Amino acid sequence: MTDSRTRPLVVVAAFAASLAIGLLVTFWLLGGWSGATGPAAIGGPFALSDASGARVTDASLKGRPSLVFFGFTHCPDVCPTTLFEMSELMRAMGPDADKVNAYFISVDPERDTPAAMKDYLSSFDPRLKGLTGTPDEIAKVVAGYRVYARKVPLKDGDYTMDHTALVYLMDRNGRFVAPFNLKRTPQEAADDLRRYL
Ligand code: NI
Repeated sequence: MTDSRTRPLVVVAAFAASLAIGLLVTFWLLGGWSGATGPAAIGGPFALSDASGARVTDASLKGRPSLVFFGFTHCPDVCPTTLFEMSELMRAMGPDADKVNAYFISVDPERDTPAAMKDYLSSFDPRLKGLTGTPDEIAKVVAGYRVYARKVPLKDGDYTMDHTALVYLMDRNGRFVAPFNLKRTPQEAADDLRRYL
């Protein structure tokens, strides 16, 4: 371990550090952390309908933290699993569950009418609100949240949807914070979510 052998490593580390800082500054300048108004912001305006037909918009996200999950009622596995985990989280929140929004937004407006969403969500915590809309309304919210959603034809003429399975955590101002991790105990997830109340 002489200087002559460690010095190149120091130089490489310094170069890597300066490169990383440069990338971070670039990301920041592009609006990566600038909030809801930046070009790279996740979220933005939307207008959808809940199970009763009432309108829910981005203004509904203000004043309390929100969990936003995109999926569809015909989903064979990921959506029911995630909605079950969200239900467990809501239960672990106790009375605080009434201080958060939990939305399930359909990426399949063709089949997911408000009535279909209501029927499907009756298997989960009643505080999970299903939102759907016209194809245009869904396309807008999908684009705003940079969700990947694609129709995949099945052999029998039916179709399924490939889609992003992230749960988005939005803060009390309706701004995106980070993906919310449900792969932990409901109590741990609840403690984390309470930090945003
Ligand atoms: Ni799904």
